Parts: sequence; C-alpha cells; structure tokens
Amino acid sequence: MARILLALVAALALVAGAAQAQRVNLLCSPDLAWCEALGPAFTEATGIPLDFIRVSSQDALARIRAEAANPVFDVWFGGTGDPHLIAMREGIAEMYIPTVWDELIPELKSVINEEYIPLYAGAIGFVVNEEALGGAPLPRTWRDLTDPAYRGLIAMPDPTSSGTAYTTLATLIQIFGEDEAFELLEDIHLNIAQYTSSGAAPGQLAGRGEVAIAVQFMHDGVKFAAQGFPLTTYAPEEGVGYEIGGITLIANAPNRDAAIEFIEWALTPEAQAIAGQQGESYQIQSNMNTEQHPLAPDFDEINLIEYDFDRWGDPEVRDRILTRWLNEIFPIPR
Ligand code: G6P
Repeated sequence: MARILLALVAALALVAGAAQAQRVNLLCSPDLAWCEALGPAFTEATGIPLDFIRVSSQDALARIRAEAANPVFDVWFGGTGDPHLIAMREGIAEMYIPTVWDELIPELKSVINEEYIPLYAGAIGFVVNEEALGGAPLPRTWRDLTDPAYRGLIAMPDPTSSGTAYTTLATLIQIFGEDEAFELLEDIHLNIAQYTSSGAAPGQLAGRGEVAIAVQFMHDGVKFAAQGFPLTTYAPEEGVGYEIGGITLIANAPNRDAAIEFIEWALTPEAQAIAGQQGESYQIQSNMNTEQHPLAPDFDEINLIEYDFDRWGDPEVRDRILTRWLNEIFPIPR
C-alpha cells in the first residue's frame, strides 16, 4: 500500500512538473493592446497558456534584478533595448539564438553587437497638438523646448521608470555632451507639466489638449493621430535617438522550454504582424519577412543620430545618469 502511495505521489509530482513547465510568465513592455493580444494567439498556436503583466522598461529591469535569485518571469517582451542589454550584461538574462536569427534585419543585430534579440525599432521625436500651443510656434529643435513660451505645455516620461525617457536622455547627451544636455534638461524641466511613468502616455495628454508637446517615440504619436487625436509628429532638427526593442529569456526562467517556444513564435512574421493589427504598435518589426505596417517609420527618412548602444547599455552609465537626473533635475521646483 505504502509503495502504491509513493508511486502515486511520484506520478502526481511528474504531472504537476510537466503542467508547470507548460506556461509562460511574461513581462511585457510595449503597449497594453499588443501585450493582451499575444497570449490568446500564442496559446492557439502552441496550446501553452500565457500570463503577462505590462511594466515599463526600467521598471521591468528593476523587477528582474530584484527577483534574480528566484525568477518569477520567463521572458521579457519588448520595451527599449538598453535595459535588455544591461540585463544581459548583468547575467540576469540569457542570450538565446532563435532559429529565425538569419531572418532578422542584419542592421538591427549589428548595431547592438548581437548581444540580445532585436524585436522591433522606433525613433524618438516630438508629438504636438498645435491648437493647445495657444499661439506659440511649433518647436523645431531640442533647444526650442527650453523656451519659456512652453511653460506647463510639455509632457515626457520619467526616465527612472520609462525606457522611452532614458532613450531621450541618452539622445540629448549624445547630441550636446553631458553637461550641456543637463543644462538643457534643467530648462526643459521648468516647462514640464507632467512626467508620466509609461513612455506612450505623454501623447495621450497632448491628444486631449492637456499639454501641447509630448516627447516620446514617433510611432506612438502616429498611433494617437490615427486614433483621431489632432497631433503632428516629427523629429527635431538636431536629430533623434532610436530604440532596438528586445525580446529576452530571463536567466533561470522557471518555464524555460515554454519560454523558448514563446520566443521562437514571437519572432515569426505571423506573430509580429499582431503588433499593427491592434491599432496600437507601429514599430519596425525585426523579422525581414514580416509585412511592415504602412504607418511604421521609414528610418531612411529620419535624421537618426549614431546611437551608441554599447555605452547606453552599460549598467554603470545607466545608473550614474539616472542618479544625476534624480539629484540635479527632478527636485528643481517648477
Ligand atoms: C511604447 C513604445 C515602444 C517602447 C515602449 C517602452 O510602448 O511604443 O516602442 O518600447 O513604449 O515603454 P516605456 O514605458 O518603458 O517607455
């Protein structure tokens, strides 16, 4: 009897183990609609259930760091690439080469030195509600954002939570040098009505006329304009930085096999097309066989800076710049 019981318990443990391996816990950093559409499509394709939470890129990195000894999530999907690279370099994420590696756009892989898997690309810019400018001219340059005419009229995300804002900080530092960029950030800060925790939110505020200027990814501005908000999207004259969003296997993922199945699936043209189908996410998708959405940006037409992914994916650079922003810019009364 005891033996039968033992065998039963062992069999049950096996079944439970197998069942546990058959689900994916996803940290998802792009827009909610895209995140929500992934689970049902993935489960339909593979039979594997998927749970997700939507977390901005910097918050996602903080979470993976905090749980490193006992990971809860299996895959980190999307969000700006710098924190993905940082996670990789800190050893809290694992490089996995998907079978579609050769189908991924070569430039997206080479600029990040093939250190993580590219999922998509997008460029920073201005998203402007002209009516809400109240007669002030359209800002044309980064420097224009310091004009007191824009007091209380600008929204941007918070770089300590949002990868979009971190990309913006990195952009300014690369164009102007660190000290001058911090002087500009101080003057821009005086014009900021709100720092949002997520990267796409400023465009919503601008769309509703609560602010006039949002600094964020241009494809997010294009999305809000397509939804009917009176917004114009463009790149400032000095040029703009860009993201190579990542998809990353968490080190010691509790459901590693299912995680790999998800990564393989998510990089197929069919899965990547889901982004644009939600009317929310118009990044350039990384698989060259994915049919790009007509509203996706054309990088040949944008004045992109030579974004130094190696530097901005350095954990020490990140922590130092964010600390400097938190100490020197954020506390200034406005
Ligand atoms: C939006 C953009 C994505 C970007 C993401 C980062 O969803 O469309 O392209 O990767 O923001 O989010 P975060 O909240 O970290 O700025």
